Amino acid sequence: MNQLVSVPSQTSERSSVFSLEGHVAVVAGGARGLGFAIAGGLTDFGATVIIASRNEETLAYATEMIEAKVGKISYKTCNVALEEDVAALENHVAARFGGADILINNAGINPNYTRAEKTTLKEWQDVVAVNLTGVFLGCRIFGQRILEKGAGSIVNISSVAGHVGLPRTAAYCAAKGGVEIMSKSLAIEWAARGVRVNCIAPGYFETDLTAGLRDNASLSENMLSQPPPRGGFGRPRELIGAAVFLASPASAYVTGQTILVDGGWTAQ
Ligand code: NAI
Repeated sequence: MNQLVSVPSQTSERSSVFSLEGHVAVVAGGARGLGFAIAGGLTDFGATVIIASRNEETLAYATEMIEAKVGKISYKTCNVALEEDVAALENHVAARFGGADILINNAGINPNYTRAEKTTLKEWQDVVAVNLTGVFLGCRIFGQRILEKGAGSIVNISSVAGHVGLPRTAAYCAAKGGVEIMSKSLAIEWAARGVRVNCIAPGYFETDLTAGLRDNASLSENMLSQPPPRGGFGRPRELIGAAVFLASPASAYVTGQTILVDGGWTAQ
């Protein structure tokens, strides 16, 4: 028989493409919201996970919650906008776990919904520092050791705001669009060396980050005037599937791509 395609025959082989057993994953901004859901999902699929964000108390609480359920999770404080913090996080992961092979650059801050003409330089720089420079620092600093290992997956959390212009979020849109095109650039640069770089672009999810939007009648009216076909906000756990797929061998031939998880919003 002409065997052009090899199809997994065992159940264990079929399920193992999503297994993260033996992998070490860092989730930046993993203490709450979407990062917390992703961290829990990655541990569920077998990864050893380190969550990182600025507040130790929130990190400790999040770690306890996930540990109680699935285990293999720890934390380290880190401000992703600071090069020395990201380097210290990478050193910590290398010393304790032999280095990461999965990095989820999820830390992000709430756009302040200032009108573009009134946005100060500081407001612009604050958003770009975390949402774009922070992602670059993570990719560069963790990327070095992952490239040495010759295998790994980086998943950058962008946004629908990296695909369509949204009002009062010029800096946020610029940063998220920047994350997407930077990810493509890294993907083609690192593909032959075993490192994949992809993005997940969430639509509207109910987290602390979107509280300002929900609380502002005119902004939420604007958003709800075109609700996603699926309806309502996304639930953080609805991001886990895309994150596990991109982190795992299931996506071995996928790099430089973005999965939009937006209930069909950008399909309209
Ligand atoms: P969130 O505000 O609930 O959580 C953000 C996390 O990032 C927190 O743990 C926070 O402490 C951490 N963080 C913020 N600045 C940091 C810094 N400088 N260093 C380290 N950690 C920092 O927000 P959410 O909604 O969970 O957002 C996660 C990611 O998803 C962000 O990148 C956001 O832009 C993106 N996103 C969220 C959407 C939503 O509707 N919630 C939609 C599209 C994208």
